[in-house]
Amino acid sequence: MKTLGVLISGRGSNLQAILDAIREGKLDAGVSVVLSNVEGAPGLERARAAGVPTEVLLHKDFPSRELYDEALVGRLRAHEVHLVCLAGFMRLLSPVFVRAFPGRILNVHPSLLPAFAGLHAQRQALEHGVKVTGATVHLVDEELDHGPILLQRAVPVLEGDDEESLSARILEQEHKIYPEAIALVLHGQAFPES
Ligand code: GRF
Repeated sequence: MKTLGVLISGRGSNLQAILDAIREGKLDAGVSVVLSNVEGAPGLERARAAGVPTEVLLHKDFPSRELYDEALVGRLRAHEVHLVCLAGFMRLLSPVFVRAFPGRILNVHPSLLPAFAGLHAQRQALEHGVKVTGATVHLVDEELDHGPILLQRAVPVLEGDDEESLSARILEQEHKIYPEAIALVLHGQAFPES
């Protein structure tokens, strides 16, 4: 079985979507570890509830970004992960990390990249007045929110939307395309019924 390492910093709803897809037999994979850079990240509880091992690595315990990233790589290797899934992991990854898993790191982002990379993508979309935004899953390279695009889903911006309502509409699509994109990378196919 192919195994995933999921990196989170917060809520972990995308982690939950991955765990649910596995439980429902839509994604033939296992999560071997959930790593967080934030103690008490709510997503850690979701992992525990699914019986997945969790680990917390705090960056303040490491003298540099590179040493932190080396430690992360070490933990992911110890759990023998095939793919690394960033799921709301709010840290820039150094080349040390990206080069350790070439073509095997995925990220989900709440916009149609390359539009609105970086923080607050939904707010950026509202500020620009776009009528359509969306969600993207891509392979990670050494640039922020950049790399080959695996799947995208468009989401309309509706009259009266605020950051919260738009984020919620985009998140629904993130939860669909993230497990599908993982299946694509692991097995060269998305869900048959989608
Ligand atoms: C999502 O909107 C994701 O696109 C972005 O961070 C958020 C994480 O949400 N990278 P969650 O922790 O998966 O609920």
